[in-house]
Amino acid sequence: MTSDRDDPVYLDHAADTPMVPAALAAMAQAAARPGNAASLHGSGRRARRVLEESRESIGRDLGARPSEVVFTGGGTESVNLAIKGVFWARRAENPAATTVIASAVEHHAVLDAAEWLGEHEGATVVLLPVDGVGRVDPADLRSALEEAAGTVALVSVMWANNEVGTMQPIAELAAECARAGVPMHSDATQAAGHVPVDFDGSGLAALTIAAHKFGGPQGVGALLIGRNVACVPLAHGGGHERDLRSGTPNVAGAAGMAAALEVAVGRLDEEAARHAALRDRLIEGVRGIEGSVINGGAGHDVPALPAIAHVSFTDCEGDSLLMLLDARGIECATGSACSAGVARASHVLEAMRAAPDAARGSLRFSFGPESTDADVDRVLAALGQVVERARAAGLASTGAR
Ligand SMILES: Cc1ncc(COP(=O)(O)O)c(C=O)c1O
Repeated sequence: MTSDRDDPVYLDHAADTPMVPAALAAMAQAAARPGNAASLHGSGRRARRVLEESRESIGRDLGARPSEVVFTGGGTESVNLAIKGVFWARRAENPAATTVIASAVEHHAVLDAAEWLGEHEGATVVLLPVDGVGRVDPADLRSALEEAAGTVALVSVMWANNEVGTMQPIAELAAECARAGVPMHSDATQAAGHVPVDFDGSGLAALTIAAHKFGGPQGVGALLIGRNVACVPLAHGGGHERDLRSGTPNVAGAAGMAAALEVAVGRLDEEAARHAALRDRLIEGVRGIEGSVINGGAGHDVPALPAIAHVSFTDCEGDSLLMLLDARGIECATGSACSAGVARASHVLEAMRAAPDAARGSLRFSFGPESTDADVDRVLAALGQVVERARAAGLASTGAR
């Protein structure tokens, strides 16, 4: 077997993307000069200008007013600020408002923040079911809102799923929330820069983004939040960022995120079409492998992220598939989680009621700016044999069948 370790095929862009040159340049320029954006002297004013121009640029690219952009330390922090902050503010207004509604396929940043509110703040957490491709039915949200009428603090449903790529009917879900007078947050960490996102037109109260998913730096994100949405900060201090996120702002990080988003949004149509073609060719090739299952919206005519393909193979473990591909210089992600040494399907596939014998053997391939047809060829050339070997390894270790 030949190993191509020096030249890996990187197909894990949903975990992290390479920074685009414009973002690196913007960061280097901002970081090379001193200045706290809160200082009144010339250097401070220069830093403040870079920060505010970044805020304006991000607002322009996501249909938000600059004052609605709150810089944070990434997706997890933005989500926690939205879920906990809006919960606390709503409960302060109305002590009965203690229900948090979220979809069952949210990222753990959302699920664990909601669960924490359940354990420590007396919240009742309601998880909305999804269909076989991972979509929430707006009628289910309407029923949940009606059942918990008068007690709902907020709703959180992601724009697009990070494992299977399925997109949610955000406008319809936001309309249900508006009818019920309940603020809705959407985790758009995987969507921003990949599909059109228009915050002001969405009807949402708050929306999360993270720079490293669209060519910006890690550890930098934003919460877009309406001016009139009450939210209690997680951290207290100097009152930066509308008093929602105290701490010296990361000016270089904000500049890098704004530059990356501008590039991503500027070439969105072209890249979305290119990625969808790569994704669909990979999916077609995988269909030819015995015991394969295509998960999520892609391949099922349901709106999905163009850059994510999620596939399962019966009778093998995702970790084995991942390691065998890695040994052939192909880097992707597995959708299964290992709990106490026992591989099980991810909560997303469980919520989609995926057949357990296939769901454990799942892989996510996610494309980025440098992905090519040759990458898909490499995967398809390796995958059939990798699946066979993973199945054989599974049979040998269990002694079964
Ligand atoms: C949907 C979603 N939400 C939240 C996060 C967390 O973002 P971060 O790693 O920037 O904290 C991720 C990261 O993978 C994600 O995919």
